[in-house]
Amino acid sequence: MLELKNVSFQVDAEGAEKEIVRDITLTVPERKLIVVTGPNGGGKSTLARLIAGIEKPTGGRIFFGGEDITEKSVTERARMGIAYAFQQPVRFKGIRVVDLIRIAAGKTVTAAEACDYLSSVGLCARDYVDREVNASLSGGELKRIEIATVLARHAKLSVFDEPEAGIDLWSFRNLIDVFRNMRETIADSSILVISHQERILNIADEIIVIKDGRVEKQGTREEIYPSLGADSAEAPACDRLLKTMDLPSREAHDGKPKPGEPQNDAGKCEKAGKTVN
Ligand SMILES: Nc1ncnc2c1ncn2[C@@H]1O[C@H](COP(=O)(O)OP(=O)(O)O)[C@@H](O)[C@H]1O
Ligand SMILES: [Mg+2]
Repeated sequence: MLELKNVSFQVDAEGAEKEIVRDITLTVPERKLIVVTGPNGGGKSTLARLIAGIEKPTGGRIFFGGEDITEKSVTERARMGIAYAFQQPVRFKGIRVVDLIRIAAGKTVTAAEACDYLSSVGLCARDYVDREVNASLSGGELKRIEIATVLARHAKLSVFDEPEAGIDLWSFRNLIDVFRNMRETIADSSILVISHQERILNIADEIIVIKDGRVEKQGTREEIYPSLGADSAEAPACDRLLKTMDLPSREAHDGKPKPGEPQNDAGKCEKAGKTVN
């Protein structure tokens, strides 16, 4: 589906040339969930921006569905079926959340459907669907809304840059189910997730480790996962901390949070009625 051939990205940083992405060759096949991981500053977000067309490579070519898209704009790539969720989302001020989801979907979306997308990312749909996207939203809320818009796109290739950022543990578990479900239900689509989270690495079909702008390792989860040592930069402290917290697993109690467990906003409210226009 997506192929990067010898892709490089160089910038002029204070007069000196800096190579952020170095000669990366990789393939994202159809119906696969690929997880890109690796130390901070390794070039992962830059790689995602190159795929989405926000940055243009200074070397190499990018192909999507066999077509060379290297020179295509963000909009053209979006039309071809590439959806991208930023590590730090943009605020589209003054627009309602429901309309943002409708624009993303590019088709009629009922209020109930919009609510389903919001609930998938752990937001209480009733509280958010009719709200304006403005400064009153926290970074985490904005991030979830953006993930909801990517879900609504049903794109051929969905790219998520660190979706875990700003998401509480409970919603995060739901999100993993959403990713799993996406992979299984969207025909011929693929998902590329940039993440440090063990739980996401665990559902990957393939793992790519990016370090110093290069592909350090690439292979199936079975091949790569064991080599990501628990103390390595790829398995961040946050995940190790979560393990020590001994939180009950979702399966153990019918999907309902236990007292003291992080609450999922979506669980506390009903879906919005059909009054939203
Ligand atoms: N446009 C740019 N100009 C200069 N430096 C950049 C630019 N984009 C990214 N970088 C640098 O490139 C490195 C890789 O960044 P990034 O892709 O965000 O890494 P990651 O997502 O793996 O943490 C960082 O050191 C970052 O500061
Ligand atoms: Mg990043």
